[in-house]
Amino acid sequence: MDNIVIIDCGSQFTQLIARRVREMKIHSAVLPWDISTGQVRESAPSGIIISGGPDSVNDEGAITVEREIFGLGVPVLGVCYGMQLMAKFLGGQVVSGKGHEYGVTPIKREGESRLFRDVPESFEVLMSHGDRVEQVPPDFYAIAGTKHGVIAGMESRDGCFFGLQFHPEVRHTQHGSLILRHFLFGICGCKSDWDLGNWIDRSVREIREQVGAERVVCGLSGGVDSSVAAVLVHKAVGRQLECIYVDHGLMRLNESRQVLDSYEGLGLSLRPVDASEMFLRGLSGVTDPEAKRKVIGELFIRVFEEEAAKIGSAEWLLQGTIYPDVIESGGKKGSAVIKSHHNVGALPERMKLKLLEPLRDLFKDEVREIGRLLDIPGAIVGRHPFPGPGLAVRCLGEISKERLDTLRAADAIFTEELTRSGLYGDIWQSFCALLPVRTVGVMGDGRTYSEVIALRAVNSSDAMTAEWTRLPAELLDLVAKRICNEVRGINRVVLDITSKPPATIEWE
Ligand code: XMP
Repeated sequence: MDNIVIIDCGSQFTQLIARRVREMKIHSAVLPWDISTGQVRESAPSGIIISGGPDSVNDEGAITVEREIFGLGVPVLGVCYGMQLMAKFLGGQVVSGKGHEYGVTPIKREGESRLFRDVPESFEVLMSHGDRVEQVPPDFYAIAGTKHGVIAGMESRDGCFFGLQFHPEVRHTQHGSLILRHFLFGICGCKSDWDLGNWIDRSVREIREQVGAERVVCGLSGGVDSSVAAVLVHKAVGRQLECIYVDHGLMRLNESRQVLDSYEGLGLSLRPVDASEMFLRGLSGVTDPEAKRKVIGELFIRVFEEEAAKIGSAEWLLQGTIYPDVIESGGKKGSAVIKSHHNVGALPERMKLKLLEPLRDLFKDEVREIGRLLDIPGAIVGRHPFPGPGLAVRCLGEISKERLDTLRAADAIFTEELTRSGLYGDIWQSFCALLPVRTVGVMGDGRTYSEVIALRAVNSSDAMTAEWTRLPAELLDLVAKRICNEVRGINRVVLDITSKPPATIEWE
């Protein structure tokens, strides 16, 4: 199978490059900028793409790649910062731009280029750079430029190295897909052999080889990722897999029942555990978001360990880690911990288990597609993502059974109306948050002094960035009226109109 290695120098578009490559049914892997040449060689790339990045190649301590990457004998495409690194390493000259160029810019082709076959003489591209290549390396020539004389693309005479000062992966760049297509098929000689149906067969074989006759435990959450991972592993090793469903009491209205019903018929060996009282006690008086996550993570581990001990010894822990989780936690220079997402991170070491993560190569929509191919019910595959700590991070302030019930009732109305309007499936994630703020209202003839519900709906492709969803005003009006009328303790509904960044999707 062909493999395109994408070296991530920190651009916000790196994942998008990986998506574009996979859309052409070619496997792509994003590796961090400090990956060794040996590791890149081991992944047997048919081609390498070096991404953009925020640094300046001439600055001390700037992100860089190993020089030997350019000596692997496979075609390399440098995008933006990647082109500047290529120019620097191969003997060209990079200068800090006099004026930064951001946004859509027309460029003009120069001479012949294999990358630009069938692309018009002039076309518009998305530029976002501060530095620029002033002089191409020896044995290179420029293939495009802007009206300000900035070199917009370069190519080596031996046909091995290519640089683009713009982003071919974004939709704003005209003919971007065609340019990538030329690199992947024409220059790297890739075939379209990345197919999700084949992926299942191959993955089942690999899981069987890896696991052998050993036993696997899995914490099922009812979410898409852990469900797909469990059904896949069950297909591979059958009853060697034991699943545990910990009900922490922080699920949405009737959700635990629905989840358990959905799992019936999938043939999984499943142990449900109702630990809701224990979680409520543990969370009592805890208001800090990170402290909530810590309590939930620790209790989850305790309950899971106790249940796993009842099953008997297992060697493997199955987790539904997916590709954005891997990339997000993967060694980005200077990246800050915004939220501690993985509340079971300590489990494998404590329980001395080996980690099985069969989905770690896939994007969310690929996981959903695999789920559909595995005949997992639409109610699971189509569910919006739901955080591990559940409603605890949507019930701001004190957590109590009463406040959770209020939140559940409001959330159920929002979900019901979104589903009825046909919009639920078009939205990445939607939910209500209960705010620990009382405001004055009037109901009937009386004054009320009650808490506030915030509505949140976002569109995203991988949750790393998200755009707030413009829901129809009539729908919002209906949801707000129903929540105020039907949910005791709420007299005001507000809409969250922030995107990510600057906000995050969840409120805590
Ligand atoms: P944020 O709020 O960071 O969320 O923009 C991005 C995505 O991750 C989910 N999320 C979590 N998932 N444990 C999880 O398993 C967590 O602690 C957690 N916090 C946020 C969130 O729902 C969104 O899909």
